[in-house]
Amino acid sequence: MEPTGAMVTDRYQHVRHHPTVEDFVAWAQDAGLPVLGVDLFPDSVPLETFSLPRDCVLVFGQEGPGLSDQIRDAAAATLSIAQFGSTRSINAGVAV
Ligand SMILES: C[S@@+](CC[C@H](N)C(=O)[O-])C[C@H]1O[C@@H](n2cnc3c(N)ncnc32)[C@H](O)[C@@H]1O
Repeated sequence: MEPTGAMVTDRYQHVRHHPTVEDFVAWAQDAGLPVLGVDLFPDSVPLETFSLPRDCVLVFGQEGPGLSDQIRDAAAATLSIAQFGSTRSINAGVAV
């Protein structure tokens, strides 16, 4: 079944499913897109100080577990989104 979205987003957003992390990483390499993870790891670089390439692919984690180890290992870097106050983690949709 073709994906659909609200406000006819399916007409201008292209959804591509990769069955495995290996498949996704190979696709990104072929397309010349650096893989950048977005999550709160001790070695994550603050997004606002990172020089984002114009073309890249940002990977966000699942709501509970966050980014998998496989994606973390495949990513050229992981980036964190700074927050103020006591909450350090926001939901994945808001982070995107
Ligand atoms: C609710 S978080 C998962 C839990 C998260 N790994 C933690 O340590 O709390 C779900 C996803 O949202 C994104 N996310 C949420 N808050 C973030 C933040 N402050 N910086 C970077 N990514 C964030 C990441 O992609 C993360 O994998």
